[in-house]
Amino acid sequence: MTRVVVLASGQGSTLQALLDAFPPDGGAEGIGVAAVVCNTPGARALDRARRAGVPAILVDHRGRSREAFEAELCRAIDAHRPDLVCLAGFLRILSPEVAARYAGRMLNTHPALLPAFGGKGMYGERVHQAVLAAGAAVSGCTIHLVDATPDGGPIVAQAAVPVLPDDVPERLAARVQAEERRLYPQVVRWFARGRLQVAGRRPIWRDGEGAA
Ligand code: GAR
Repeated sequence: MTRVVVLASGQGSTLQALLDAFPPDGGAEGIGVAAVVCNTPGARALDRARRAGVPAILVDHRGRSREAFEAELCRAIDAHRPDLVCLAGFLRILSPEVAARYAGRMLNTHPALLPAFGGKGMYGERVHQAVLAAGAAVSGCTIHLVDATPDGGPIVAQAAVPVLPDDVPERLAARVQAEERRLYPQVVRWFARGRLQVAGRRPIWRDGEGAA
């Protein structure tokens, strides 16, 4: 079974899409969410994991050093022997050391079309506010590998949505998140089946098929 550990911080709607697609026993596809690690006490993501029968682990970032937080985070992740680590609405920036530890097997979803509207301070609703303030005509989501640069790792897949004239951040977010829920499980499947590899900054699909 391909073991997926998901990191989340909040509502967990993206996490839910992964839980629905990949039950803890691996289901028919042999891909299972093995654990959910969350840095926010009381986050809905923890409830969603428990309801799916998946270990829900809280590693609180508050009141201690980044080093201590990340050391416990890595212990929690590693205890579940992941083949793949998926950040799904995980709102802490991870140090280059953590990125290096999971190099090539840690994915993130970002709610905009990177490399625009990413980087430090760009998360959740702030991203959609920035997209609207810039007058962009399209937005979307980006699934990328995590490396030492926040939101800067190789792009694996993207999906675009229109920005509508009367949009507010909430409505744009809902449109983007629907695409995240569709695209993220698909990318996990590609990885699990060994169909997708990343050479340098560019994704390569085996069998000549693309991401479309
Ligand atoms: C998602 O849209 C995700 O892309 C975004 O936060 C949202 C979390 O929603 N992540 C970032 O902004 C990371 N930079 P959720 O908790 O309901 O999945």
